Amino acid sequence: MRRARVGVLISGRGSNLRALLDATERGDVPADVVLVASNRADAQGLVHARERAVPVVTADRQRFGNRAARQDRIRAALDAAGVDLVVLAGWDEILAPSFIAAFAGRILNVHPSLLPAFGKTLHAQAEALEHGVKVSGCTVHFVTDDVDCGPIVLQRAVPVEEDDTVETLATRILAEEHHALPEAVGLWCAGRLHLDGQRVRILPAD
Ligand code: GRF
Repeated sequence: MRRARVGVLISGRGSNLRALLDATERGDVPADVVLVASNRADAQGLVHARERAVPVVTADRQRFGNRAARQDRIRAALDAAGVDLVVLAGWDEILAPSFIAAFAGRILNVHPSLLPAFGKTLHAQAEALEHGVKVSGCTVHFVTDDVDCGPIVLQRAVPVEEDDTVETLATRILAEEHHALPEAVGLWCAGRLHLDGQRVRILPAD
């Protein structure tokens, strides 16, 4: 199987990027991360790309004040790198419809809640806690124009404990993200994700 070429978009810490890089290097996921892009030149997570000599492109909010200009720059870099799949791993910006159309069915996002609960927010764990849910988790889904509403690939649940804070809950969810995201990328690479309307059917392994 040809290894898929993956571009990862980050805005911050990059622990999901690191988990994906580790999974590809271990051979668990038949893919290579060929580009990491960020809308913040100082994103902490860029260190994981640089440590492994993965090319980086930044379209910083300070330099590129306009969202379309930032995304055009990143899209051109993804195209030039021959990326098959785009992974949003802690990316904090809504993608333009033209960007999503250019990679239709080829963009995955990881979100720290069991969607459709607590979508369209950067504070999903805090909102879950405030709402008093007893179970939360993470979702990996395809990206469509409807933010956080694209077809769901995988979900992993975690309990909400009595003494949880936003930090402890976020940490428990993040540990699941680090498994779910590489797993979903692996399924995509293996051609095992079949879109059936809003449902994603996971095809059996050959
Ligand atoms: C994760 O919780 C992810 O679900 C959300 O942003 C966070 C990014 O964490 N979209 P990291 O940058 O991968 O460490």
